[in-house]
Amino acid sequence: MQTFDMVIRGGTVVTAADTVVADVGIADGKVVAVALDLPAGREEINAKGLLVMPGGIDSHVHLAQPAFGGPAMADGFETGTRSAIAGGNTTVIPFALQSRGTSLRQAVTDYHKEADGNALCDYGFHLILTDPTPAALGQELPALVADGYTSLKVFMTYDDMVLNDRELLEVFDAAGALGALVMVHCEGYDAIRFMTEKLEKAGKIAPYYHAVSRPQSVEREAAHRAISHSELTGVPIMIVHVSGGEAVEQIRWARNKGLSIFAETCTQYISLTADDLKGLNMDESGSKYVCSPPPRDHASWEAIWSGIKTGVFQTFSSDHCPFFFEGPLGKKHAKARTSFRWVPNGIPGVEVRMPILYSEGVVKGRISVNEFVALTSTNHAKMYGLYPKKGSIAPGFDADIVLWDPEKKVTISQTLMHHGADYTPWEGFDVTGWPVMTLLRGKIAARDGEVIAQPGQGQFLPRAMSYFAKAQIAS
Ligand code: URP
Ligand code: ZN
Ligand code: ZN
Repeated sequence: MQTFDMVIRGGTVVTAADTVVADVGIADGKVVAVALDLPAGREEINAKGLLVMPGGIDSHVHLAQPAFGGPAMADGFETGTRSAIAGGNTTVIPFALQSRGTSLRQAVTDYHKEADGNALCDYGFHLILTDPTPAALGQELPALVADGYTSLKVFMTYDDMVLNDRELLEVFDAAGALGALVMVHCEGYDAIRFMTEKLEKAGKIAPYYHAVSRPQSVEREAAHRAISHSELTGVPIMIVHVSGGEAVEQIRWARNKGLSIFAETCTQYISLTADDLKGLNMDESGSKYVCSPPPRDHASWEAIWSGIKTGVFQTFSSDHCPFFFEGPLGKKHAKARTSFRWVPNGIPGVEVRMPILYSEGVVKGRISVNEFVALTSTNHAKMYGLYPKKGSIAPGFDADIVLWDPEKKVTISQTLMHHGADYTPWEGFDVTGWPVMTLLRGKIAARDGEVIAQPGQGQFLPRAMSYFAKAQIAS
C-alpha cells in the first residue's frame, strides 16, 4: 500500500480544470494521490475550509539585475525568493541579462552565481538579448536553449537594450529555428525619446511625466510592429507586461488572424493608475510607481479584464523589479531628482500578485478560481516548458502547493512584506484571500506569514520548449 510523507486533508483542491474536495497524498516531494479518505500520512495537514492550489509560478521577475541605467536592485535571490514564497509562489523565472559587448553564456554564469545556493524557491532563467551578434545567435543561443534556457526577452526601448527592426527580425528568426519563445517589451524607443526631450525642455521633469512620455499609442505601435515581425518570420512571440486596451486590441486582432501571439499582463495594470505617479515635487511618492509601461487609468483596467476574460492573456505576472525609494540607491537618487528619465523603472510586487488577482478577480466575480490557477500557475508552466512537472495538482507533479484562505482579509502594508525594498506600491490596499501555507516539493516553505524555507532550498529548473507555442504552431 502507498505510504505518504504528508497528507493534506479535506481541502478544496483547485486546478485550472477542476474544483474537488479531496485529500492530497505526497511522497518524495511529489503528488502521488488525489482522492477521498486517503490513509494517514507521516505528517497531516488539516486543510478544511482552505483552497489547495498549485504553487504560484511568476514567470516575470527581475532579481539581482543591474538597474536600467541606474542603481542596484533591492532584491537579490535570497530576499526576492523569500518574498515570492511568502506570496504563495514556488517557482520564479527571472532574467539573465546580457550586457552589450559580453557573451550570453557569461550572463548565465553570472546569474547562476547570484542564484545558486541563495534561492528559497525553484527558478529558471530567461535570457535577455541585447547584443545579437552572429556568435550570440548562431552559437551561444543554440547551446543555451539545449541547456534549458528556452525563452529570451528583447526590448524595443531603453538605451542600453533596444534592438532595431532588423535585429528583432534576426532574433525572432534564430529563436524560431530553435523553438525558443521570444518575449517582447513593446514600447517604441524613438517616440519615447522624442516625448522625453520635449517634456524636459518644457520643465516637465516630475515622475508623473514618465507616464506622459510613454502613452498607450507608443505601446500599441510597438506591439503592432512586433506582431508584424512575428508574422513575417512565422515565429510565435509573447508580448509581456501589456498595460491597456490599445495593445489588447492589437493582440486580439493578431490572434483572430490566426497568428501565434501570446500575452501577459501584470498586477499594476489592474490596480494602479498614472495618477499614483502624480505630485510635482520630486520628493513626493510618484517615483514609487515608475515602471514601464506605466500604469494607466480605470478604462484600461477594464480593457485588461476583458483581455483576461476572453483569452487574450495567458499569464498574469508581477514584473517584480524592486528598487529602494529612499537613499543613494533609491528612486530618489541625486540624478533621478533632475528628471523622470533617470528614475529606475520597476516596482516590487511578487508577494502581492496572487492576493490582488484573487481579490480583484475571484472575489469580485470577474474570473473563476480555476482561471485564477491557470493565470498564476498552470499557464506559466505550459508557456515556459515546466509542464507537467509544475503547474497542477495531480499524480506525478512536484508537490508545490499553496493553501489559501479565501476569507482572510488583509490590508497590504510594507510591514508584512518580505522583499528587500523599503516600500510597497500597494500600501493600504485591501484584499480578501491570502496564502496561509506554501509547500515546495512537499516541504513546508511558509506558514502564517513566516517563511521557513532556507537559502539554497530552491533548485534550478532547466526548461523544455514552450508547450503553448508548440501547440499553436501545430494548430
Ligand atoms: O519597469 C519595469 N517594468 N521594469 C522592468 C523591466 C522590464 O521592462 O520588464
Ligand atoms: Zn519589459
Ligand atoms: Zn520586466
